[in-house]
Parts: sequence; C-alpha cells; structure tokens
Amino acid sequence: MNPMTYSSVTLYYFSGTGNARASANWFAEVAKEQKIDCEVIQLYREIEVNQPVNDQRKQLIGFFFPTHGFNAAPAMLKFIWHFPKIKNASVILVNTRAGMKISKLFAPGLSGLAQILPAIILKAKGFKIVGMQPIDLPSNWISLHPGLKEKVMESIFARCEKITKQFANRILSGGTKYKALISLPIDLAIVPISIGYYFFGRYFLAKTFISTKECNGCEICEQQCPVGAIRMIHERPFWSFHCESCMKCMNNCPKRAIQTAHLYSFILWYLLWFLIPALGLWLAFQKKIIEIIGNEWLATNLLTILLFIISLPVIALAYRLLHYVTRWKWVDDIDKYTSLTFYSFWRRYNFGLKRFRKADKK
Ligand SMILES: Cc1cc2nc3c(=O)[nH]c(=O)nc-3n(C[C@H](O)[C@H](O)[C@H](O)COP(=O)(O)O)c2cc1C
Ligand code: SF4
Ligand code: SF4
Repeated sequence: MNPMTYSSVTLYYFSGTGNARASANWFAEVAKEQKIDCEVIQLYREIEVNQPVNDQRKQLIGFFFPTHGFNAAPAMLKFIWHFPKIKNASVILVNTRAGMKISKLFAPGLSGLAQILPAIILKAKGFKIVGMQPIDLPSNWISLHPGLKEKVMESIFARCEKITKQFANRILSGGTKYKALISLPIDLAIVPISIGYYFFGRYFLAKTFISTKECNGCEICEQQCPVGAIRMIHERPFWSFHCESCMKCMNNCPKRAIQTAHLYSFILWYLLWFLIPALGLWLAFQKKIIEIIGNEWLATNLLTILLFIISLPVIALAYRLLHYVTRWKWVDDIDKYTSLTFYSFWRRYNFGLKRFRKADKK
C-alpha cells in the first residue's frame, strides 16, 4: 500500500437498476488490488451510519448514485444531508447518468444539480472533495424510452468500467479529478428543471406506475423496493409518493406486470395543466391576484407554484381511483394496451440488475 494514500475506503451506493452498484464495485476492485481496506455499502430503506471514530488514519468515503431529474437520487441526497462529520476524511462523488450510443458515438447524460448540491453539502460539513465523476451507463428510464439493446449495453458497460477504474487509480494514488465540473455552465442552466423535478416531477411520476392482471401478488416488488415505497393493497402493488422512480420494480417484475400508465398520465397532465387553468374561474382568479400583487411576472409564478401544490392531492386521489377501477378487467385492459411499456418492442432494462442476481442469492 502506498503510504501517501488512503488506509480505508468506504463506498455507499444507492441504485435502482445496478448501474451505480456496478460503478462502486469497479472502484472497490481497484482498491482491493492496491490492498486497501474497502467496504461497499448499499443504501436500503433507512440505514444507520454510526459515527465513525475520528482517528488519524486517512480515509476515503465514496457516494455512488443515479441521476434523477437532473439531481442526485433523493434517497442519496437525504443520506448525505444526515451524514456525520468525519475528521481526516476525503470524499468522492460518482453519479451515474443516462448514457446512450448513437451509431459508434457514446452520448453522455446530463447532471444538473446531481454533483453540485451534494458537493456543497459535504463541503459545508468540512469534507475535502477529491473526486467528482459522472459515469454514463445505459439509461434505465424506460417510462420514457425503450430499453437499449443488449449489445449496445455491453459496449457502454465496458467503456464505463474502464473510465471508473482510471478514476479509481487516480484517486487512490492520492490524486484529484473533477470531471463533473466540465459541464458546469449547462448544469447551472438547467437548475430550474432540477428544482421542478425535485418538488413536483418525482411525485407525479410515482403515481404513473400500475400493475396489470398479469401480477400474481408475489410481493417481490414490495420487498425489494430500496425505499419501501410499495404497499400491497388487495394483493396488488400500490405506489406511494415515496417512490423515487428508480425503475427497479418495473425492470425486475418476473411477470412483466408493471407498466407506466401512459394514456392515463397524459390525460391527467392535460387536465391539470391545460384544461383547469383555461377555465374562466381560474382566469378571473389570476386577474385578481395580478391586481393585488401589482407585478404580473411575480403573480404568474406564484400561481404556477400554487397550481403545483394543489395538483398533488388531486394526483393522489386520481391514482387511488385508478388503482381501484383497474380491478375490473375491461379497465385493466384499456390501461394495459395504452401503456407503451406493455409492448414487447419496449424492452426492459435489466442488464445492470442481472449482473448482481447471482451475488444476491449467495
Ligand atoms: C426518473 C429518472 C430520472 C432520470 N434523470 C436523469 C437525468 O436527469 N440525467 C441523466 O443523465 N440520467 C437520468 N436518468 C438515467 C439514470 O440516471 C441512469 O440510467 C443511471 O445510470 C441509473 O442508475 P442505477 O441503475 O444505479 O439506478 C434518469 C432515470 C430515471 C429513472
Ligand atoms: S413483482 Fe410483479 S408479479 Fe410480483 S407483486 Fe410485484 S407486480 Fe405483481
Ligand atoms: S417503487 Fe419501484 S420505482 Fe419506486 S422506488 Fe421502489 S423500486 Fe424504485
């Protein structure tokens, strides 16, 4: 072991479909090759971090997580927020993003606040940040697009393994690397979207999952959700607002019974954002508020925030109703056939998950 470098490495990861987990494991492989004590810890439900002993040894702490809505996955953000201060510890941040491959070209994802916000929190706690690295593993957001082809995923994984290991070698030899900062201007430009996703988007998405009649009530999705967001109601999963859309349940269901209710989501979105605001009552209310505040820009923005707040209970109620009525076969059929995820051309993303199935069974 190089005496100038770390005596121990602890890597925390949150992962929906295995990408962040793969990345943490590649890093750990390099640490082990260098005979450095290394532990890889999964964030699953509520995990307790015992206040580590503040000894004089130099330790490295790593946080590996997916990018969600141009932000760090909320579970990881919460974990970092509550993470204890540790003397003599350096940290690295690795966010996995939506990598794609167009012809022979690898296309990167976008971080937004995913690196910046955790870095600010950790810096405020007094940690020394020695590495900030995005890793562009295959996109798992299959509510939005079909899963990538196996061959494409293989080549993206091979490339990312190399990048992660190069990063690990650099950090573990005592160096620093801030690759994430290259895209800072773009990341800052999309901050409004990151905020919108964090306070509204993720709640809306949580209520777009539904299971169809193919579900046999095996409860795998409920047991394996990393944040405990699923409840079984009448032997069918019900998604709560805690869901982070990590995509694990949908990609892992043995019956392929979980869908994104696309038509339902579209109708709800249309009602909330186009139809209701277009009603005379809302327009009159808007006029009155502009008159009271005296600033059209401010009044319009405040009303948009109000509409977001009002829409959350409406979304919750509509979802309850959807969950209830999909007990009837004909409603279930409409829901199923109007969900793009139901069709076989809309592949699942389980390349990352498959890699770890054997290890999990041991
Ligand atoms: C709800 C959701 C939002 C996402 N938002 C982003 C994003 O803003 N930027 C990006 O590059 N990738 C985004 N992705 C893609 C994932 O971050 C990416 O596929 C990641 O590698 C998944 O890691 P995991 O398998 O460890 O969960 C998103 C995925 C999901 C499911
Ligand atoms: S994993 Fe699939 S089949 Fe099992 S309870 Fe969940 S939705 Fe139903
Ligand atoms: S409910 Fe499914 S998508 Fe949501 S956090 Fe749990 S496993 Fe992930």
